[in-house]
Amino acid sequence: MPSDPNGGSGGHQGAWWAVTAHCPSAALEGGAGALAAWLDDVSTRFYTLGAQGLEYEDGVAVRADWVDEGLPPGRPFVRAYFPGGVEWEARHRRVAAALEGVGGELAFHPVQDADWAHAWQKFFHAVRPGQRVWIVPVWEAAPDPDGLIVRLDPGMAFGTGTHATTALMIGLLEESVRPGQRWLDVGTGSGILALAAWRLGAHVSAVDIDPVAVDAARRNVAAHEAPIAVWRGTVRDVPTRERALDGVAANLTADILLGEWRGLADRVRARGRLLVSGIIEERWPEVGRALGAGGLVPTAVRRREGWVAAALAVP
Ligand SMILES: C[S@@+](CC[C@H](N)C(=O)[O-])C[C@H]1O[C@@H](n2cnc3c(N)ncnc32)[C@H](O)[C@@H]1O
Repeated sequence: MPSDPNGGSGGHQGAWWAVTAHCPSAALEGGAGALAAWLDDVSTRFYTLGAQGLEYEDGVAVRADWVDEGLPPGRPFVRAYFPGGVEWEARHRRVAAALEGVGGELAFHPVQDADWAHAWQKFFHAVRPGQRVWIVPVWEAAPDPDGLIVRLDPGMAFGTGTHATTALMIGLLEESVRPGQRWLDVGTGSGILALAAWRLGAHVSAVDIDPVAVDAARRNVAAHEAPIAVWRGTVRDVPTRERALDGVAANLTADILLGEWRGLADRVRARGRLLVSGIIEERWPEVGRALGAGGLVPTAVRRREGWVAAALAVP
């Protein structure tokens, strides 16, 4: 049964809260462009509010085991996960208010930790998103023990290598990173891209705006004994010594990239690389134009499952 965002669900308090934004009719009827703009807008709002994970559905009927609601078929949605308890008490009104402007129906459901952990483990298996780096859950054996292995326990943070935006980025890192180079991963989530770049031989640091992601990334970095500093904040909070870098990798969203790309490119040396991902196909022309107007030149543009990632040379 749907419950209200105030934590009232028959006294059933969730360790996490799932917030589902269903696509409004106007975005559905407006065609692929309107739907993509809506998806991007909602994702950006969720991330800005501190969502720990996002899930998308493109309109096919699904039933998620850990949410006690059958979802209506034919209705795209974006679902975000937020920590429950005291944090949720403080946050739920802000979430409801910020999502009011996006139209469509909102639903709030408590989620128990055990269900969530179980869900992750069911869907996350060893993958090799590009040619060289393997992403392997900590609970599985590595399929190629001699390969470049990143072992991950994503916890509640985004980044298992199975999402198209992450997979595209790993491919671009494999093509771009040279041993001994200095790279920065912005929006590190579980730390997956920072660890992949380190396995490829780079000196790496990372940053994420979300404290849960920072904890997850630090845990994963420590498990590899990798010398990767992980800061909390945006690129503006990264120490100024991290400049003239060979590359910055940023798997964010179109809107966040449009707001942040100058700060990202400023950290890169002349002829270094800015790698961007998390851009829905329909938003790429707009993002590509903004970066192009700033003098950045695309050297590779990759597509997968409706998502675009690009490598750009910094002037
Ligand atoms: C799509 S996830 C990417 C995670 C991981 N890098 C990957 O590729 O799978 C985006 C991450 O960026 C973080 N984030 C959102 N806005 C940010 C910003 N302005 N600066 C830094 N991190 C941000 C979110 O907390 C989230 O962990």
